[in-house]
Amino acid sequence: MTKLIQTAIQMRDMARAPYSNYKVGAAVETIDGKIVGGCNVENASYPLSNCAEQTALFTAIAAGHSKFKGLAVSTENGGSPCGACRQVIWELCGNIPVLICDENELVSETTSAALLPKPFDESKLK
Ligand code: THU
Repeated sequence: MTKLIQTAIQMRDMARAPYSNYKVGAAVETIDGKIVGGCNVENASYPLSNCAEQTALFTAIAAGHSKFKGLAVSTENGGSPCGACRQVIWELCGNIPVLICDENELVSETTSAALLPKPFDESKLK
């Protein structure tokens, strides 16, 4: 198992999900091979909750990383990134492999482009 997948799976243990009980872990791999993890962090005011993928990406950005070559996400049942996360992944990573995992292993592989067809992005703002 790659370190990217392993980290995403392990990050589920860090999740704060008292409302949904749906723990999500994620990890991104930087262009120079560093792995940065994240988890979902829920709030009693539900919309203020943060998804695992966004936690991982924002943590990586805050640590000074800006180019990414892969992302893995782990849930109990192999769930795919939500729509908001697809937009954030596209914005910050462009087209990269996205590895979908359950609580034990990789279950499918896709790309950020396949997850977000016809994206809205900076190219529309010029
Ligand atoms: N969640 C994520 O962390 N990532 C996704 O892509 C889908 C949903 C979280 C948000 C919330 O804490 C829980 O899963 C249930 O929706």
